Amino acid sequence: MSTPVDIVQVPDIASARLVRRILDGYALEPWGFHGLGHWARVLVNGLLLATETAADREVVALFALFHDSRRLNDSRDPDHGPRGAQLAGELRPYFTLNDRKLALLQEACIGHTAQADALDITVRTCFDADRLDLARVWKRPDPALLCTDMARRPEVIEAAVVRTHNFPAAAFVQQTWGDVLTPSA
Ligand SMILES: [Fe+2]
Ligand SMILES: [Fe+2]
Repeated sequence: MSTPVDIVQVPDIASARLVRRILDGYALEPWGFHGLGHWARVLVNGLLLATETAADREVVALFALFHDSRRLNDSRDPDHGPRGAQLAGELRPYFTLNDRKLALLQEACIGHTAQADALDITVRTCFDADRLDLARVWKRPDPALLCTDMARRPEVIEAAVVRTHNFPAAAFVQQTWGDVLTPSA
């Protein structure tokens, strides 16, 4: 039987060390609305989309970790995307990404709430990875608001809605990164 972590192969760049570092400054409840569970589902959504869109898997994985990482509340916080992008720049010593990919990561973080679409397929895939988890606020993802052909397919939306409610995020996080909420020795 497959375990949750078998659903996708998480790129090494999304390391436990990096997740710990991001969580160090996370202002909200780690398992809250925009916390680890959402990051894990966005990660899975993005990596599944990347199998077809050919988005950069490392950028997609880092987007999942950074895009909501500097929210100050779980409701209206229009500047959280730019803050997440800034954090990605600050934490660059914790991962290896070339300048072009870092720019895509930051573009995706900055634009993920206010921007409808983007030119680059990796940025578009990041947007859809996040938007496919909209059922967490009881909104079914709207194909008109998705950027990639794959994400707009009814069966992909349906699978994402099921994932929002049923994905074993705690097990996934444990299997992928271990006890990231326990301070390392
Ligand atoms: Fe966000
Ligand atoms: Fe998000």
